[in-house]
Formats: sequence, C-alpha cells, structure tokens
Amino acid sequence: MTASHPAARTSRPVVLVTGANRGIGRAVAHELAADHHLLLGGRDEQALAALAAELPSAEPFVAELTDPADLDRALTGLALEEGLAGLVHSAGILVNGSVEELTPADWERNFAVNVTAVSELTRRLLPALRAARGTVVAVNSGSGYAAKGDRGAYSASKFALRAWADALRQEELAAGVRVSSVHPGRVDTEMQHELRAAEQGAYEAEQYLRPATVAAAIGFVLRAPEDAVVTSLDLRPRAIG
Ligand SMILES: NC(=O)c1ccc[n+]([C@@H]2O[C@H](COP(=O)([O-])OP(=O)(O)OC[C@H]3O[C@@H](n4cnc5c(N)ncnc54)[C@H](OP(=O)(O)O)[C@@H]3O)[C@@H](O)[C@H]2O)c1
Repeated sequence: MTASHPAARTSRPVVLVTGANRGIGRAVAHELAADHHLLLGGRDEQALAALAAELPSAEPFVAELTDPADLDRALTGLALEEGLAGLVHSAGILVNGSVEELTPADWERNFAVNVTAVSELTRRLLPALRAARGTVVAVNSGSGYAAKGDRGAYSASKFALRAWADALRQEELAAGVRVSSVHPGRVDTEMQHELRAAEQGAYEAEQYLRPATVAAAIGFVLRAPEDAVVTSLDLRPRAIG
C-alpha cells in the first residue's frame, strides 16, 4: 500500500478511520488531516483515492469489514512500524424495523457490521495500537443508552458496542491503549435521511448535529492529554436534545 505523501507520513501519528468515504467518518478524516497520517477505510476505492488526494497525508484502506478474507488482504502489507495512534470505528448500518418484522438475517447483518466487524478489526490491530499507546474510538449513538420501538436491533447493537468498549478498556489498561465511546444524537448524514424516511418525518437538517461537530468531539477524544481517557462522550443537537 502506498501513501499519497510518504514523506509526510513518517512524522505523523497514524489513524485508521472506518466509514471514511461519507458521513461522520469523512468529517473525522478532515478533522484529523492537519496533524495525522490517515488510513481511509471504506469499500469504494475510487472515492477513497479522491479523498486521499484532497488531504495532506492519507491513503485508502479498502475493505468489506464483514469479510475476514477481504480484511486479511487489506491488512497484509500495511506498514505500521510506528504503531497505530488511533482507530476510529465510524462504519455502521441502521437496521430499522419492529421485532415482529425483523428476520434472523436482519439481526445478523446488523450485528456483523456494528459489533463483530468492530471487534475483529480492533483485534487484528491490537499489537500496533499497543506499540503506539493508541486510542480506539467507537462511534456509538444515543441509541447505545436508550432503545426505541422500531429500532430495537440497531439499539441492541449499540448497547453491545458500549459493552464491548467497556470490556476492551479494562483489558487494555495495562498496555496503555485508551478506549472511548462517542454517543451522538441525530447527525445530518445519509443514515439520518434513512432514519427520517423510516420514521416518516420531515428532514430538518438545521436541527441535527453537523458531521464536523461530531468530528471535532472525536478529535478532542483522540488528542486528550496523555494522563486521561475520555471513557464516553454524549453529544446532542442543541435544538432537539
Ligand atoms: N447519522 C446519525 O444520526 C448517527 C447518530 C448516532 C450515531 N451514528 C453512528 O455514526 C456512525 C457513522 O454514521 P453516518 O451517519 O456517518 O453513516 P453513513 O453516512 O450511512 O455512513 C456509513 C459508513 O459506514 C460504511 N460501512 C457500512 N457498512 C460497511 C461495511 N460492511 N464495510 C465497510 N464499511 C461499511 C459505509 O460505507 P459505504 O459508503 O461503502 O456503504 C459508510 O462509509 C455509525 O456507526 C452510526 O451508527 C450516526
């Protein structure tokens, strides 16, 4: 894998951001671009290459995160001699539907992306995270604290993601890896369009958090002083709470 600007990479902490091609992940890439080398996670290689070209020091990390063989291919040859300073899990899916409607396949794909893939990517990168005393950020949700009808599967996956982050934080304490959960409310992204369509509600972008606002919060978590870990951060749109 070749960095867009390898010279710049050597002096920068490396952060992998999943879901970097759009939404919150893309905003995180922009937030961190000035002082990090970025591995831009996603499935659309062309879109990621175009984004990498806009940033001072970045390269695509193309992988279908639920496919272990594809993850193997993407991780092979990834040069992380200085370790991995940050791993931001922004890739996620929203599975809408009531308990009556959702099938086992719906539950499985929901958990496969929102929980299992997060754990597996982290597991594979633990040696690099330990080497850099890095920070893992799980992009969770208000739904990771409170479930709503017709969104039970999504909420269950985000509750599980919170449990996963709490367990990993304890496990990695001695190794110096920090683990943080960030819980935004409604954010103006494609996922929010999907949700509002399912809710049959008007899309009121100005009422929602901007992706850049969530990204700034994630930047704060990653840049927290060495003596602290932000265990969880709850961020709500001011207009609707
Ligand atoms: N939007 C909100 O209101 C909101 C609120 C709270 C929490 N969140 C959480 O924030 C995170 C980002 O959400 P968003 O609003 O930015 O969503 P989004 O705009 O729908 O983007 C989702 C991202 O996840 C990637 N992704 C999905 N499945 C994948 C897979 N199997 N392998 C690799 N990449 C995959 C997508 O890649 P492709 O483009 O290839 O599909 C895309 O980049 C999610 O975890 C979500 O649950 C969102």
